Amino acid sequence: MTDWWLNELAYAGDEHLDPEYVGQYTRKAGYDPAEDVVTLKAHGLSPDSSLLDYGSGDGTFALAAAPHCHRVIAIDVSPAMCELLSQKAVAAGVRNIEVVNAGFLSYAHDGEPSDFAFTRNALHQLPDFWKALALERVFRALRPGGILLLRDLVFDFDARDARERIDAWMAGAVTDPAIGFTAQEFADHVQREFSTYSWVLEPMLERAGFEIIERHYRKSVYASYTCRRADR
Ligand SMILES: C[S@@+](CC[C@H](N)C(=O)[O-])C[C@H]1O[C@@H](n2cnc3c(N)ncnc32)[C@H](O)[C@@H]1O
Repeated sequence: MTDWWLNELAYAGDEHLDPEYVGQYTRKAGYDPAEDVVTLKAHGLSPDSSLLDYGSGDGTFALAAAPHCHRVIAIDVSPAMCELLSQKAVAAGVRNIEVVNAGFLSYAHDGEPSDFAFTRNALHQLPDFWKALALERVFRALRPGGILLLRDLVFDFDARDARERIDAWMAGAVTDPAIGFTAQEFADHVQREFSTYSWVLEPMLERAGFEIIERHYRKSVYASYTCRRADR
């Protein structure tokens, strides 16, 4: 039979596979994971908990979460990102992060289902058909009642308002790509990646079996969803 499954590497974003870009990613992303760790702790993350981080990238979140839980499995399709995270974990003396070079659609979760899942700025790499399959796989990797914190670029506006809202977002872009994302990078994101509307993604989460228990939007383009696997 013809293989129709997605080649996730082909959709991973070439820059994420480029060791030079990856080496500069942490500074460029400028991500402070403290608030996300607080959110998960508020939902029960404890020294006994297991946590999956999908699209873990340079591991900023995994390294911050590791001291607060039993085990983190950091999953990323990019070998360069996995290598960077492994090196950072060794340098920091962190031993409870397992780095897995796989994608949303290829990671096979073995053993006990996880208590928590996290993903930031990664799901948009997949077209919507595949997002739904990815969320269904995250659902199955979690235990009933398990918590997913999903953060991503999500468009919380109607299509008729797209020009105004995307222009407003771009007005806040930086000019130095070393310390943030430029307007051209935002334009590339809109044109070539698969950020979707909140009114598409939210039913997708619910259809995968999640209850959205908290939702926040920033500037109509960034969303944060705290979700519970609904079949407790
Ligand atoms: C913009 S980075 C975000 C990294 C990190 N989560 C953060 O918040 O800084 C996107 C990451 O998703 C990874 N990625 C892309 N497609 C993926 C997929 N299908 N499955 C898992 N990871 C993927 C990329 O390799 C990259 O490390």
